Amino acid sequence: MRKIVILTGAGISAESGLGTFRDAGGIWSQYDLAEVATPEGFARNPVLVHDFYNARRANARAASPNAAHLALARLQREWPGTVVVITQNIDDLHERAGQSRVIHMHGELAGALCAECGAHWEAPLVMHAEDPCPECGTAATRPDVVWFGEMPYDMDLIEQHLSSADLFASVGTSGQVFPAAGFVMQANAAGAETVELNLEPSELSGMFDARHEGPATQVVPEWVARLLSKG
Ligand code: NAD
Ligand code: APR
Repeated sequence: MRKIVILTGAGISAESGLGTFRDAGGIWSQYDLAEVATPEGFARNPVLVHDFYNARRANARAASPNAAHLALARLQREWPGTVVVITQNIDDLHERAGQSRVIHMHGELAGALCAECGAHWEAPLVMHAEDPCPECGTAATRPDVVWFGEMPYDMDLIEQHLSSADLFASVGTSGQVFPAAGFVMQANAAGAETVELNLEPSELSGMFDARHEGPATQVVPEWVARLLSKG
């Protein structure tokens, strides 16, 4: 296998105790997306938005990588140079499992961003809008996450990886948010084999060559073991 591109979503971190967005009782049933995950919501009420992400940062720091994160890191270790992980998640559980080359297309809880000049720096555990930017001094600090209506990160690099993929796997994502929801179509168009690993059928299940249904901590290690045994 020359290139394996793996897209992950909230489902891979669910068994580490981090909530998903659209499952029953998920984050978007508890919070109004327009108020906590849009630039307009941040302009209206920065305290509410920072409280939301500060709580998620604390939860993510307290969580540990699970067997699914560890299996993907093992695949990368055993087949160096072949695996690229693109995640929609803003936690760092892939990295803490030992994964390198992780593309965080929706940003990271570990980052701070100046809404004024665009500077990036490492986030403190608790962030406030009035924290001054280390570059320009403006008090317009926001989490370095991509909100609805904003451009996801690293799209050019992602397009390059998708167009040269031999195998594309989607893990724990509902396939409801673009552009990530379009990646399986791009991978299919590039001639890659495509596989979905998810707890239940997603919006996009019909587009994959193969599907493995079940909890990520079970189906991902099994899939990795099968791949490695085939060589
Ligand atoms: P959208 O599909 O309307 O637009 C996504 C953005 O990406 C647009 O600016 C669009 O121009 C751009 N885009 C789309 N396809 C592209 C491609 N192939 N190459 C380059 N750019 C492309 O989605 P949206 O509802 O505006 O959501 C924006 C993003 O923010 C989503 O990816 C969403 O998941 C993310 N988001 C993150 C959080 C968070 O908590 N981190 C919360 C909400 C939204
Ligand atoms: N194992 C595998 N899959 C699981 C598990 C599990 N233990 N638990 C839940 N899932 C699946 C669900 O069945 C669902 O299909 O994970 C998926 C989670 O979907 P969403 O909650 O919609 O999360 P995601 O696809 O990552 O959301 C995309 O939306 O609001 C934005 O920015 C946010 O990055 C996020 C984006």
